[in-house]
Amino acid sequence: MKKYMKLLAVLAVISMAFVVLGGALVTKTGSADGCGRSWPLCEGELVQLSDVTPEKLIEFSHRATTMIGSIFVIALAIMSSIYIKKRETKPLAIISVLFLIIQALMGAAAVMWGQNPYIMALHFGISMISFASVLLLALLVFEFDNKFDARELVIKKKMKVNIYWLSAYTYFVIYSGALVRHEGAGLALPVVPFNDGSLITPQSIQQIVQYGHRTLALILFIWICSTAYFAYKHYWNYRVIKYSMISLVVLLLLQITSGILSVFSGLSLAFALMHSIFITLIFGVLSYLMILSSRSKGDTNY
Ligand code: HEM
Repeated sequence: MKKYMKLLAVLAVISMAFVVLGGALVTKTGSADGCGRSWPLCEGELVQLSDVTPEKLIEFSHRATTMIGSIFVIALAIMSSIYIKKRETKPLAIISVLFLIIQALMGAAAVMWGQNPYIMALHFGISMISFASVLLLALLVFEFDNKFDARELVIKKKMKVNIYWLSAYTYFVIYSGALVRHEGAGLALPVVPFNDGSLITPQSIQQIVQYGHRTLALILFIWICSTAYFAYKHYWNYRVIKYSMISLVVLLLLQITSGILSVFSGLSLAFALMHSIFITLIFGVLSYLMILSSRSKGDTNY
């Protein structure tokens, strides 16, 4: 049974990664209307090969991946609730299915009733929670905790609170990025936002959104680096914390680089997709750190 569950967990994680990437590809290529205002079928029917357009194909593939991914996620949620007797299993199983449903309903609502950028930007954050909950379930199936020293780890109050706030703040930065995409603000400012030696004064909502995203990203960078430094001083003997912090810093550098290259390349598809994948992984690592924090009973200082 363990062997089948591991296979199912891998399939669920991979398919959900494709769902996140597919969602980014749909908005990025302007394919959201590829199937007309019809859901779940494409223009009321399964795609006819005679009148396939790239937009229709991208939107239809995204819907198909979502459906296949949903089957894996629901099966994983049911099986892990039955066979994995850990405190987090049931809540994670419920979150993974609930957010899958919310995600699908939001996608459907956008297709049927049009796309408000501020509402659409929520969609990406919801898919992030959906992915993270499936990833965490998979880590439980693979008994990831036993491979590192996670079970002996004690995270004290200061670090715990920091991890919760850092994760909440990262979610906010994610929303600001999704807003950049949905407001079409990606190229509102050059890579270096200076004109004649002085900072460009924002003139449009797109420029404000783009400035906002970059400022929030800079604060996140400083916050993650200081958290990693703090962990270096107080938690470096725990391998699970050491590797999580190193991955966070490396992934964040890749996130910033792909953001800068997206602007530099005039929003190339490849860099934009990398920008979506790195943040998905960052959020996955932060979610794992939240689980470790919630388990830890340490309530003294650092
Ligand atoms: C802490 C770092 C950052 C985080 C967490 C972050 C997060 C995000 C997210 C979640 C999106 C939406 C992706 C999607 O809808 O698929 C996005 C879009 C975007 N971000 Fe960032 N970002 C960061 C840094 C940057 C930086 C430094 C820049 C540029 C200087 C940048 C430029 C952009 C652009 C241009 C888009 C829109 C891409 C498009 O429309 O194709 N980001 N960001």
